[in-house]
Amino acid sequence: MTSTAKVSIDLGARADGGVAALDLEELLATRLLVQGNSGSGKSHLLRRLLEQSAPWVQQAVIDPEGDFVTLAERYGHVVVDARRGVADLTRIAARTRQHRVSVVLDLEGLDAEQQMHAAAAFLGGLFDAERDQWYPLLVVVDEAQLFAPAAAGEVSDEARKASLGAMTNLMCRGRKRGLAGVIATQRLAKLAKNVAAEASNFLMGRTFLDIDMARAADLIGMERRQAEMFRDLPSGNFVALGPALARRPLSVRIGPVETAARSVSPKLLPLPEPAAGEDAHDLIFTPGVDEARYEAPRRPPPAPPTADVLARLARSAPPAPPSVEPTPSLSPEQRQTAIDAALREILADSDANFRTITVLYQDFLVRCRIRRIGGEPLSLPAFRRRLAVAHAGIELAEAEAENSPWAEVLAMAGALPEDMQGVFLSLARAAFDRRPCPSDADVANAYGTSSPGRARRLLAYMEERQAIVCRLDARGWRIVAIPGVAWETGPGDPAAAGATTPEASSV
Ligand SMILES: Nc1ncnc2c1ncn2[C@@H]1O[C@H](COP(=O)(O)OP(=O)(O)OP(=O)(O)O)[C@@H](O)[C@H]1O
Ligand SMILES: [Mg+2]
Repeated sequence: MTSTAKVSIDLGARADGGVAALDLEELLATRLLVQGNSGSGKSHLLRRLLEQSAPWVQQAVIDPEGDFVTLAERYGHVVVDARRGVADLTRIAARTRQHRVSVVLDLEGLDAEQQMHAAAAFLGGLFDAERDQWYPLLVVVDEAQLFAPAAAGEVSDEARKASLGAMTNLMCRGRKRGLAGVIATQRLAKLAKNVAAEASNFLMGRTFLDIDMARAADLIGMERRQAEMFRDLPSGNFVALGPALARRPLSVRIGPVETAARSVSPKLLPLPEPAAGEDAHDLIFTPGVDEARYEAPRRPPPAPPTADVLARLARSAPPAPPSVEPTPSLSPEQRQTAIDAALREILADSDANFRTITVLYQDFLVRCRIRRIGGEPLSLPAFRRRLAVAHAGIELAEAEAENSPWAEVLAMAGALPEDMQGVFLSLARAAFDRRPCPSDADVANAYGTSSPGRARRLLAYMEERQAIVCRLDARGWRIVAIPGVAWETGPGDPAAAGATTPEASSV
């Protein structure tokens, strides 16, 4: 930079208005861990760091989302498509070190297990370079918990071992070989401890889960109480600490970047004006010139969905004999009461859990007809939601009241696929009541399956969507938290047999 040997990177602004500097040489020796929830600005931070340090040091980016490929045009990084085989990736990584070329390993489009194998192969190639090629290399890994997960997950042991081993080598044994790990994660609690522990520099962004906050506080050597400040950090703000950053926790606002992320948060854009003479109908129903290969074989017209048929049946009241009085029309309140009564009857059937939703819906429509509820009956999705709410033991009036925390929970449920909403609401109810966490068998039961594996995958999925947060206590018992409202179940043994009482069987 200047005549001094020290190269300092400008990360952005400190709270006092000064420049937040990062000592690059110190960073090479002491590594960096970035943590923050989704949207806290980790990828932006990594991009800022990469852009600012590009002139000074060779870089390799392990990029699960294909976000960083845009560095190529401006900074000359070579993009390596991870779909080449693993042997190829290892050789390319070795050449990267030989020729000191900056690269982005683009892992987009691979499944989790393939990503792990590819990252392991590439990191392995970087690590195994000949001694005369041990030049400094900044190795940036975004979403590091994917490659160094704290717990065994859905992927094979083989994939996990390979990539965890490579990440451990990078963070624990890489320094001598010139490798400086910079890793970012959404969830510190999901990152293998030994990998996280090797970083001496931290940039902590917004974190709302207690368990991540506690891990962050422990790593930084901060009082847990003090770590509460991570909860309120705005996006793009981080607390910096470590030999390359600051001796005391320092608040930093990350500066702008030169290149754009390829995947950005969804933004609303005005729709394109149709060009003159273009018809929207034609645009989507007429194949384009090079589209022949997509032509699907002709199928018979699809049968209308069961729910439609059922709804139509319910609406077509049987022709009334002329002598009978016309159906009295109900007031909206009476109608609502009648619908509620029909719903309650269905719920009162203790085996309601074990009948498919379509059967229950059919039953409901029949009951509505018996009660002469005219007009549109509840649609199937609305019915499913009402049922889920009622099943979870939530009073609809309570849930829909203004300022009710349940309103937020219902909104979170609404963001999940329909078939999961019931399970989610039941977990929320258990957390609200501080009951023990339902076992895998209970969750499976509520989901209408008997497979505990499916139940675990379901929980993992909901956790990925940030609808719930699971953790285990020292005994290995599970605790589920609902992030928005900060409710938590008590610990429950995941392996316990399913509860058999009707109340408990709704989770
Ligand atoms: N310092 C900043 N200045 C301006 N915009 C920022 C800043 N930090 C983040 N942003 C913007 O906020 C959004 C979210 O940031 P980013 O993608 O970096 O989050 P993330 O922590 O990587 O999230 P995820 O874990 O979901 O990948 C992006 O649109 C990004 O451009
Ligand atoms: Mg990101």
